[in-house]
Amino acid sequence: MSATTAPVAVAAPQKVVKTFRVLRFDPSKDKAPRWQEFKLPCDPMERVLTALNRIKWEQDGSMTYRRSCGHAVCGSCGMTIQGASRLACKTLVKDIDGDVIEVQPLKGFPVIKDLIVDMEHFYHNLRSVKPYLITSSPKPVKERRQSPEQFDLIDDASKCILCGCCTSSCPSFWKNDSYLGPAALLKAWRFIGDSRDEAKAERIAAVNGRNGIWRCHTIFNCKEACPKEIDIPAALSQLKRAVVFGSVA
Ligand code: F3S
Ligand code: FES
Repeated sequence: MSATTAPVAVAAPQKVVKTFRVLRFDPSKDKAPRWQEFKLPCDPMERVLTALNRIKWEQDGSMTYRRSCGHAVCGSCGMTIQGASRLACKTLVKDIDGDVIEVQPLKGFPVIKDLIVDMEHFYHNLRSVKPYLITSSPKPVKERRQSPEQFDLIDDASKCILCGCCTSSCPSFWKNDSYLGPAALLKAWRFIGDSRDEAKAERIAAVNGRNGIWRCHTIFNCKEACPKEIDIPAALSQLKRAVVFGSVA
């Protein structure tokens, strides 16, 4: 006779009531931004993005924010949560201390509506570093090959999802939004460090201007903010070395 195993009861997670304090701004109606509070019972393991979705679907459909993948891949849901730039889809309710969770748009960017910011200047800076492989040598029969060791140099920088969290948390960018910012500079390094790229001199010149790499004062906020845990200051140090020596060390 086979022994029967008694079913193990799994306790449902205890819900916690949180107050979401959201900075709202509708330029068609509001003269200035205003705070709005929403109370919501949450599972501590729930993502802030899920909570915002429930607020939108159940309490106030006019609340506006960007989101798409829900899995820290697309970079759409960057916002300021409890004072720090984060992805709403990667931040859990239990990660935020206290009963109040404050949500604002990314700092340093003009607000379009509620939590949606205008990223055009961010993309303009990104375009200025030519974020694609440039080659002039004849096309190989197959692909342009790269060894694992060569890829290691740019592996970390290749993980960027362009959410803008780093740039929005950089004090040099707050002071001067003409500064290219960590995201664009990281992308410049991603291609300068790429063994297959053939436009290094042009790229180095592009980041060596008055609003380029030398406006990075190694403040490190970008590293704290990056949801992909990229060591941005380390990449920017490599970029500085490449600018000084005119090549990748
Ligand atoms: Fe800004 Fe990061 Fe440099 S916070 S100053 S880009 S190290
Ligand atoms: Fe895609 Fe958060 S929704 S990164």
